[in-house]
Amino acid sequence: MVLHSWIFRSHIVVSVWLFISCHTTYGTETDIFCLKSIKESLQDPDNYLMFSWDFNNNTEGFICRFNGVECWHPDENRVLNLKLSNMGLKGQFPRGVRNCSSLTGLDLSINKLAGTIPADISTLIPYVTSLDLSSNEFSGVIPVTLANCSFLNTLKLDQNRLTGQIPLQLSVLSRIKEFTVSNNLLTGPIPTFGNQVRVNYANNQGLCGTSLGACQTKPSKRNMAVIAGAAAGGVALAALGLGIGMFFFVQRVSFMKKEEDPEGNKWARSLKGAKAIKVSMFEKSISKMKLSDLMKATNNFSNTNIIGTGRTGTFYRAVLDDGMTLMVKRLQESQHTEKEFMSEMGTLGTVKHRNLVPLLGFCMAKKERLVVYKDMPNGNLHDQLHPIEGVSTLDWTTRLKIAIGAAKGLAYLHHSCNPRIIHRNISSKCILLDADFEPKISDFGLARLMNPIDTHLSTFVNGEFGDLGYVAPEYTRTLVATPKGDVYSFGTVLLELVTGERPINVARAPETFKGNLVEWISELSNNAKLKDAIDESLNDKDVDGEVFQFLKVACNCVSQTPKERPTMFEVYQFLKAIGGRYNFTTEDEILVPTDIGEPDILDELIVARE
Ligand SMILES: *[C@@H]1O[C@H](CO)[C@@H](O)[C@H](O)[C@H]1NC(C)=O
Ligand SMILES: *[C@@H]1O[C@H](CO)[C@@H](O)[C@H](O)[C@H]1NC(C)=O
Ligand SMILES: *[C@@H]1O[C@H](CO)[C@@H](O)[C@H](O)[C@H]1NC(C)=O
Repeated sequence: MVLHSWIFRSHIVVSVWLFISCHTTYGTETDIFCLKSIKESLQDPDNYLMFSWDFNNNTEGFICRFNGVECWHPDENRVLNLKLSNMGLKGQFPRGVRNCSSLTGLDLSINKLAGTIPADISTLIPYVTSLDLSSNEFSGVIPVTLANCSFLNTLKLDQNRLTGQIPLQLSVLSRIKEFTVSNNLLTGPIPTFGNQVRVNYANNQGLCGTSLGACQTKPSKRNMAVIAGAAAGGVALAALGLGIGMFFFVQRVSFMKKEEDPEGNKWARSLKGAKAIKVSMFEKSISKMKLSDLMKATNNFSNTNIIGTGRTGTFYRAVLDDGMTLMVKRLQESQHTEKEFMSEMGTLGTVKHRNLVPLLGFCMAKKERLVVYKDMPNGNLHDQLHPIEGVSTLDWTTRLKIAIGAAKGLAYLHHSCNPRIIHRNISSKCILLDADFEPKISDFGLARLMNPIDTHLSTFVNGEFGDLGYVAPEYTRTLVATPKGDVYSFGTVLLELVTGERPINVARAPETFKGNLVEWISELSNNAKLKDAIDESLNDKDVDGEVFQFLKVACNCVSQTPKERPTMFEVYQFLKAIGGRYNFTTEDEILVPTDIGEPDILDELIVARE
């Protein structure tokens, strides 16, 4: 299965390369101007853009390293996609996007943007294939000129305050695959799209046409109430009064609900009708559950139950009636069918190891895919290492134990699983900690489910392969996930453990330094100052030797060339040797490396391209 996806990817690579080589002359000042004006026009209370969008060093390709910016090519200042989802941004639609003249994807979802969608939007982003403005506070009408954005594949406007009619001209969009406007205040007839187009019109004030029911001939609920009132003869006036009163009351209640929960769990409320769906469980020991149980346990997937959000989805804490806690992950929208999802879950359900988060079950309801895991009381490694306030309380022994266990879990995925699993998204956020700080890797196997099947090249550039600071350098050229790519990401986690620094925005680096953690380490190493990288809290003569050895293993993992990196099996062995005197695990499950010594096809492929 995995091999199949590699082959598929190499195919994509070829087409990307052809495409890039025809367009090498663009790369422009105007895209820089574009990002500058977007940054200026938006309020950024959480400083997502503040630190990462630094315009002082304008070497070619520098904007491609900004948060949320994906370029056509990493060394060319030409923006392909802007993904500014869920950054707490405020303000109006950023008109500056018009100067990103090769933009094909714009995602501003889950922010607090307000005002209208510009009437001339088609001249601002004429080549857009994917536009996501959902979960904001946009009001006014949907501009008719969107019909002129003729490359649109995906148009998502859900969860805003849009009013008026949906322009029927949108039905001319010949490439549209997904059109969603749920949870707005729209009225009137809906445009006609082909059968294959995924649409969502739910929770609007009065949309009609095709599947929603014919327009006008059938009275809406509101009219029925009035008609019923009038028919009651003598008491007509009183009933009408009551009816209208009720109507306003209902309106107010639904308005208030919206205010309490401006952007959160409407998707969950839309599942109400599906509550009886069973949760498929892998563990017989857990009593049978229904979707309604999960909803109750997560307070209807309330925002207050969110314990983490990542590339593959959002984690919710669920507390069952008997006090047991679970984690439920709502997967990012996946384009795989129910059957594919079930078969993937069937495979993942059999992957069990002491250092992997146990997968307990899963559930499919409408388009939603929920995965149920055992709860990990100490959260994730990232939050333990980089607490919002104060310094990390993890001591050396605990850090070493976490590194060894996590290496073992990942080595198991790489070498002992059949088919072997490349994680693709290793970071300190996906290493979870149980009550004894035993590490458990989460999210394995999910990256495959997230991959769009065809949509557009764009999704294969940068974004897919992991969080900033963790992505192996060859990925931006090859776009092929490999075990050695995971080793690189894991090396970054080891560096976080030994330096106490974050993978990007290194606090102890000089202000002029713009690189990530790996680049900082390599600079220190070049100047023979590697020891300066070590977290001060680990300064202790007794463990000096171990700490420095550990740092060297980390450095090997983040070698620029994949061939120079050790395998996960080797990383595990090195770390275990460093921690030998602590006896972290008494009984060691035997890891049989199935592929040590075999030539690594993919490494060769990469070398050949270089
Ligand atoms: C930005 O776009 C506008 C409108 O297309 C254009 O007039 C202006 O010259 C552009 N600015 C830069 C710096 O390219
Ligand atoms: C600018 O960034 C590039 C790439 O990160 C780096 O090689 C270069 O040294 C930087 N220049 C300055 C003046 O910081
Ligand atoms: C949209 O396209 C139509 C038909 O091609 C054209 O007449 C109209 O001027 C365009 N509108 C805008 C705002 O570009």
